Amino acid sequence: MNADGRTRLNQTPEWTALAKHREELGDIRLRELFAADPGRGGAYSLRVGDLYIDYSKHLVTDDTLRLLRELAAATDVFGLRDAMFRGEKINTTEDRAVLHTALRAPRDAVIEVDGENVVPDVHAVLDKMADFANRVRSGEWTGHTGKRIRNVVNIGIGGSDLGPAMAYEVLRSFTDRSLTVRFVSNVDGADLHEAVRDLDPAETLFVIASKTFTTIETVTNATSARSWLLDALAEEAAVARHFVALSTNAEKVAEFGIDTANMFEFWDWVGGRYSYDSAIGLALMIAIGPDRFREMLDGFRIVDEHFRTAPAESNAPLLLGLLGIWYGNFHDAQSHAVLPYSHYLSKFTAYLQQLDMESNGKSVDREGNPVDWQTGPVVWGTPGTNGQHAYYQLIHQGTKLIPADFIGFARPVDELSDELKAQHDLLMANFFAQTQALAFGKTPEEVRAEGVPQELVPHKTFQGNHPTTTILAPELTPSVLGQLVALYEHKVFVQGAVWNIDSFDQWGVELGKVLAKRVEPALTEGAEVEGLDASTRALVAAYRELRGR
Ligand code: F6P
Repeated sequence: MNADGRTRLNQTPEWTALAKHREELGDIRLRELFAADPGRGGAYSLRVGDLYIDYSKHLVTDDTLRLLRELAAATDVFGLRDAMFRGEKINTTEDRAVLHTALRAPRDAVIEVDGENVVPDVHAVLDKMADFANRVRSGEWTGHTGKRIRNVVNIGIGGSDLGPAMAYEVLRSFTDRSLTVRFVSNVDGADLHEAVRDLDPAETLFVIASKTFTTIETVTNATSARSWLLDALAEEAAVARHFVALSTNAEKVAEFGIDTANMFEFWDWVGGRYSYDSAIGLALMIAIGPDRFREMLDGFRIVDEHFRTAPAESNAPLLLGLLGIWYGNFHDAQSHAVLPYSHYLSKFTAYLQQLDMESNGKSVDREGNPVDWQTGPVVWGTPGTNGQHAYYQLIHQGTKLIPADFIGFARPVDELSDELKAQHDLLMANFFAQTQALAFGKTPEEVRAEGVPQELVPHKTFQGNHPTTTILAPELTPSVLGQLVALYEHKVFVQGAVWNIDSFDQWGVELGKVLAKRVEPALTEGAEVEGLDASTRALVAAYRELRGR
């Protein structure tokens, strides 16, 4: 029992029923589940927008799914969902609304925060972004010397980098190929160096992306970028043509020296990791154009509406969230792999890492009580087929249970040559083969029947029973990207709601920031830092010696 008299999550009848069900299922086998129900493949699937989601290869029965939905009902996931969509301040530790869904609301929608409809502001900023993006793309917006802008460098970190950088990669085939678009995030000076070393400052636009405009990495890189520009262009007035800001903090933007007329605003009810469809997407919009950007927002909206209105039985984010809970809380799975079979999705899992792990990497509940159940998983993965030749061995034959999402597309992108398009079937043959091998494995009898000598049989046996979700879409378009991202956003929401944690704060990143500020003078000046532990003190001394200080 909590201090406030509420039953702890893991003492609720719904949780206990799931634990008992898990015990009763024992070593349930996917081979048996499919043998018992030949229609399972189609029956355990959903269609949402352009996405076909197959969840048949999961260690679940109808009873499991029912019990999971009962847990969602008992934890009032849909109640919290409705509160989020209404603009209530469900991010309680920061006293903020959570309204990334308003970023893709239609013009005529009404969504109020503190009694104010935020939708007109959202569209005013989108229109301002579109106007600016068109001017850069057409050459009407020039640099200080009158030269056309040919390079766009986004400087930001976390949500102000991962989202636009990921989406730029995903939608590369929709980008204006005459523009060079790069993303700088790391405070390691090498990042900025490599991004600008071959660029002409007179043709380069810096997009400084920071919700708070106080993030040390971004402010430091932006300052260095300004020096790089001014070293070449020599006049302070050049900054106004070569720097724009994306932020919620006009005061800090002005303090930095960027004219707030060149600032694209967003709001405190947009979390950093939920922000790339806000002004934070400006570099992306310049690259793909406003129309494609709006198509992407339409895609988000399809899944928002689905999540908001679909019944529990066919609600895809609810289902995916609950499946994660089934493995994390009732099978002790520690991680979750996301394995896209698309080169263009090379940064997708890295993006999801922040979305999921910064949201649900929490160990106290909304009321501040320690949780005694597992929360967010470690999210990892890279595109197939590359991963197959690296770490899939461990997923197939290692000792860990690793549920995985496979994301694939029926058609290759238009831009590829016919010969390269033909490779797509080979890519997808691997995609389907992997989920099949993971689910059904290969028994010792099957291995023996191939004439394998007995001593090698254990080595060549695949246990199978590794659960996967398959997400298949017709092709990779801006809308499909929006649908995929919204699907994961709401999946993460569902899990946080069940675990009763605040998925929208990120206090866990603060301590490191404070300590870095304290340690820096010890590195640069050898300053004595009060209270520094013995290990760090010795490391600082070693660093200074190696650095020649
Ligand atoms: O430190 C973590 C974090 O606050 C993330 O949540 C955020 O996306 C990132 O830093 C960047 O923050 P900002 O956009 O304010 O620079």
